[in-house]
Order: sequence, then C-alpha cells, then structure tokens
Amino acid sequence: MSDESRPSPAQTAVAAVIPAAGRGVRLGPGAPKALRALNGTPMLIHAVRALAASRHVSLVIVVAPADGAAEVKSLLDAHALPERTDFLVVPGGDTRQESVKLGLDALPPEYGVVLVHDAARPLVPVDTVDAVVEAVRAGAPAVVPALPLADTVKEVEPAAEAGEPEPVVATPERARLRAVQTPQGFDRTTLIRAHETVTDNVTDDASMVEQLGLTVVAVPGHEEAFKVTRPLDLVLAEAVLARRRLNDGF
Ligand code: CTP
Ligand code: MG
Repeated sequence: MSDESRPSPAQTAVAAVIPAAGRGVRLGPGAPKALRALNGTPMLIHAVRALAASRHVSLVIVVAPADGAAEVKSLLDAHALPERTDFLVVPGGDTRQESVKLGLDALPPEYGVVLVHDAARPLVPVDTVDAVVEAVRAGAPAVVPALPLADTVKEVEPAAEAGEPEPVVATPERARLRAVQTPQGFDRTTLIRAHETVTDNVTDDASMVEQLGLTVVAVPGHEEAFKVTRPLDLVLAEAVLARRRLNDGF
C-alpha cells in the first residue's frame, strides 16, 4: 500500500510497539527486566495489559530479548488479553532504537497510528494512553506524555570519573522543562521515516521526529507511568499495585 492510499490517522487502527529487549543492568543481576515479577506477574504482562486496556489499541507488538522470543510468546499465550487485541512477538536488538525499529518492521500496513511504549513502564493508566492516541488522531505527527519536574535541573561538564566534582554549566528554567514518558504516539509514516533517516543514538522516539524538523506535542503524563529503572522503583511499583487493589475493593 502506498502512503497516499493509507487511511488517515483520524480513521485508522492503532498498534503499540513495546520494546522489552533490555537487560535491566541498573536494576541489578537477575532475569531481563521486562520478565521480572511485580506482585507475581511479569512486568511485561502488566505493560501489555496497560496498552491493551485502551479500546483504541488492536495490536500489540512485543520486542523480546533476542534469546527470549519463545519464552515471551508463551507468557503472552498464558495471560489473556481483551478479545479485540492481537499480539506479535519479534526478537529485539542491541539498543532500544534498534529494538523499536525491529518492531516497526513487523507492523502490518493497515495500522496508521503507532504507540511506542517501554515495557519498563508497566503501570501507565489507560487515560494517558487514550490522551496520546486522541492527540495523534487529531493531527499531531508525534505526541509525548510529559510531566513538570520536581527537581531543579543543572547542565554539567561530565567528569571523566564517576564521583568526581562536575562543574555546572547552566541551569535551564525549570518551568519550561518536562520529564517525558511513554507511550509516545505517532503517525505511522512519520515514525517509519524517522527510523529510516535518523542514525544518531537517541533515548526516545520523539526526538527522532524532532530531528526531521516536525512538531512534537506534549500532553499531560501521569506519575504512575514512571519507568522502573533502579531497585527502589520495584518497591514503588508494588506499592502502586497494592493501592490499586485496595481501591478496587471499595
Ligand atoms: N530496550 C529494548 N532493547 C534494548 C534496550 C532497551 O527493547 N536493546 C527496552 C527495555 O526493555 C525497556 C525500554 O527499552 O522496556 C527502556 O529502556 P531501559 O529502561 O533503559 O531498560 P534497560 O535497557 O533494560 O535497562 P538498563 O538501561 O538499566 O540496562
Ligand atoms: Mg537501557
């Protein structure tokens, strides 16, 4: 199908690519991060369910650790998703960027809107997912959920060795800064072009779209969409799940 004959983002189906191929080095030794349990269920399953909870999302493409695609496939077979949601599993690459690209390579042509969501953000609320989809459908080529910062941020001259004092270079005005989360949402053609064009190493997908000179917009993120990165984040994630369970009981 040519780009011209594809349905517009306003009408088309939505797929989610979930990069889950990282090792989780900062979490410490153990299984790949996405396969570690939160309250007994693998983080990846929480993340897949969080995206599948959106009535917009009809396909989830999970990018598994390169040697773990079969294991991830059987995990997904064992944990029911809503009937409207299909899934695919593909093996990932050495960087997040490569893993997302490998996920996009598996994207069927009928999906005109793509969400990219870290498996490491297992608790994103469905309202955040829906807000991102709606902003893409309304015409934005790229959308990021974002939150204001609590801390003041300094730019430094990084020290050659960890722990050495680092000269501060600048202090950007905090009110103009945002911490960016996932899912990030894209018009399909834009995201594929970004991944084909931009070769710099980046830490999120929207910055590739920025490098194409296109406008990226931020919508409100959510504190529960935090990224599980360090051991303390596992404690926080399990506390959020416990609070949800309690609230669901009333
Ligand atoms: N990711 C991926 N492929 C990679 C590296 C990362 O799919 N080669 C995914 C991770 O699985 C995660 C997301 O990208 O869901 C965000 O990355 P990050 O939080 O940095 O996870 P890890 O790379 O696993 O963690 P670390 O950097 O501590 O090793
Ligand atoms: Mg990483």
